[in-house]
This record gives sequence, C-alpha cells and structure tokens, in this order.
Amino acid sequence: MSLNKVDSQIAKAIKAETKRQRDNILMIASENYTSQAVMEAQASVLTNKYAEGYPGDRYYGGCEDVDVVENLAIERAKKVYKAEYANVQPHSGSQANMAVYFSFLKPGDTILGMDLAHGGHLTHGSNVNFSGIFYRPIFYGVDPQSHRLDFDQVRSLARSFRPKLIIAGASSYPRIIDFKPFRQIADDIGAYVMADIAHIAGLIAADQHPSPILLADFVTSTTHKTLRGPRGGFILAKKKYAKKIDAQIFPGIQGGPLMHVIAAKAVAFQEAMAPEFADYQRQVVINAKVLAEELLAWGLELVSGGTDNHLVLLDLTKTDLTGLEAENALGQACIVVNKNSVPFDKRGPKVTSGIRLGTPALTTRGMKEREMKNIAEWIARILEKPYENKVLRDVRSMAHSLCRQFPLY
Ligand SMILES: Cc1ncc(COP(=O)(O)O)c(C=O)c1O
Repeated sequence: MSLNKVDSQIAKAIKAETKRQRDNILMIASENYTSQAVMEAQASVLTNKYAEGYPGDRYYGGCEDVDVVENLAIERAKKVYKAEYANVQPHSGSQANMAVYFSFLKPGDTILGMDLAHGGHLTHGSNVNFSGIFYRPIFYGVDPQSHRLDFDQVRSLARSFRPKLIIAGASSYPRIIDFKPFRQIADDIGAYVMADIAHIAGLIAADQHPSPILLADFVTSTTHKTLRGPRGGFILAKKKYAKKIDAQIFPGIQGGPLMHVIAAKAVAFQEAMAPEFADYQRQVVINAKVLAEELLAWGLELVSGGTDNHLVLLDLTKTDLTGLEAENALGQACIVVNKNSVPFDKRGPKVTSGIRLGTPALTTRGMKEREMKNIAEWIARILEKPYENKVLRDVRSMAHSLCRQFPLY
C-alpha cells in the first residue's frame, strides 16, 4: 500500500519538504541533493536485512547479496581515496570519529582539535559531546589577523600537552587544510593524526583539495556533504589499523549495519569516480570564489577574506546584525543558511556573529557564476535592510523564479 494511504501525515510532510528543497536557495554548507540513484538504493529492500559482522563473516544467514553490496562500497571507497582500508558501516560522521577514539585512546587521554568557534566540530573535543567528556581536549585555532590555521600554536600546544591524537579537520573553515604540518607535529611528539574530511570529502575525491590519505593515520568522513551521498559515515586507514577499527564499529559501538545506506554509499562512490563529478566539484569551488568576491564587493566582511573551498563565512562583527538575525532575515527571503560562530566571537553559539554559506547544493542544481553574483547581491540587500518587507518580498520572488529555472527531483 502506498505511503499516502498508510500514513497521510508523513506523506504530507515529505511532500512539503520536497517543495521546500525545490523552492528555496539552500546554502547550508553541509547539505546537498543526492541523486535519484542514491535515493533508490537507500529506499530498497536492503533495509529489511540484518547483517551484523563483515562480508564473509556475518552473524546471520542470507547475507550473500548484502555481502556483494558492502564489498562494492568498500572497494569503491578505497579506490576513490587511494586508501589501504575502508570501513563503510559508521551510521554517521560522529560515529566514525567515536570508533577511532575508542580504538586508539583510553578515557582521560589528551586530544588536540580545532576550537569549535574557530571552525572545528563538536566531536573534536567539545564539552557537550562524548569527545570532551571522555577525553581531555586541548584546542588550537586560527591566527587573529589572517584567520588561517596557526601551526605555531598547534606545535606549541602539542609540545606542552603531548596529546595522543591530533585532529585535523573542520566544519566551517573556508581555506585549504594543509595536512603536512599536522603530521610533522604529531611525529615530533609520537601522536596519531586523524583527518576528519566530512566537509571536504567530495573536493578531495575530485582533486580539488589535497588528500590526507598518506599523511594521517585515520581519515574519517561523512558521505552526505560535498560527497553528495546518503546520510552516513566512513573510515579510511592504513591496513595495520583495520582489525581494531572493524571491531570497534561492530560490536564495539554499533549493531547491525544499515545495508540500504551502505548500498547508497556504494552508488555515491561510483558517482564520485565519473568525470562529471570532477566538473561538479570544480564548479562548487568556482561558485564559492565568485560568491566571496561579490560579497566583498558589496562591502561585506569574510572570515580570512575569502575562500579556497565550498564555503564562505560572513563576518557580521562590525555590523549591528547578529548571525541569528541574519539567518532569520535571509530565511524569510527563501535563502536558507545557518548562523555560525566566527573566530574570537563574543556572542554564544545560539546567536553568533556569522553566517556560513555553502555552494554544494546550488551547484548540484546547475547554478554557476551568474547565479552566484545575483545571490550575493540579494544577500547584501537583505543584510542591509533585514526588516524591510519590500526587500524581503522582492528577493523572495526572485529566489523563487531562480529555483524554477533550476528544477529538482
Ligand atoms: C567535520 C565534521 N565531522 C563530523 C561531523 C559529524 O557528522 P554527523 O552529523 O553525520 O554525525 C560533521 C557534521 O557536521 C562535521 O562537519
């Protein structure tokens, strides 16, 4: 029986969400639109199957078909990232990170990660997250002037606190992350390096960002951001760490793998090997650069003065507007963004002084430089007059018409 007949309330909410995704300018840097093929795999009968264990070594019968699926996902992940080993079972990016920490750290061990307010992620040591509760987190940040990673600080913190693990990776850092100094600093003190590439996984797959694969001991990621797969995680590592990580994911922290999601991950890795995917990632970066240049030309300030990747961080510190107010005003004009702390932010995470803007989803719709220029102008107009109904109305109408030119699903 169709969903609509069984549960009209959920069917209605899905329909409304489809319309929201279609009719809005989605600029949340961690979001994207997956392909129909990815969604087809995820919506398949594989959701019915229990498959605790790994291909060829399961705790359930009837796993011959899901073994094919998981082996394909593993082989493709290894191929895309030139990795020795891949585990495609993590249900999320957070669980990928948890598996690495639980495999190689003991409670109370010191970890060195990027400060959340400077661009890091909750799982890199925040005190409201397991990573800051089980471990002793120390944070590095960016240089106050350049807003670039401050490796002198990373080195000096590493020497003083001797962390067992150094985490390289970010959720809102608009510049290239150079993994080499992380490796050198870690070698100096005998620490592991984990590169969390959740945001930049798609760029790395398409050579639009340097890969950490030969430098980091562990690489963790999500599949649903720039990589454009289903919601989920994966881990890459040197082969010598395979046994420990596999055992930590299952039975350590997870139960049965989500085989339907793993199938969708396999499809996404396959798509990531196609030449069109490289074109797409190139355009994601071009679009972010154009967006940044145009916002600067409209007199807005950006963290680090620009971007090298898929995101731009608007710094509202010198304006009267908070990140929260800007997010609300843009939302009313159908430009969906998230408020975001900027380095050295004096406001809390629920208010903030910044806005994070990403180009992956719009680029998937086919938007290019011209559209970025228009959108930058609309953003500038709204931020100048966030409470003027006419401005909000005008932009909303232009946003809808732009969305109609780039149809979806
Ligand atoms: C750098 C980084 N790592 C990990 C994660 C966690 O991913 P998930 O939301 O799938 O747990 C995110 C998500 O935003 C992220 O940006």
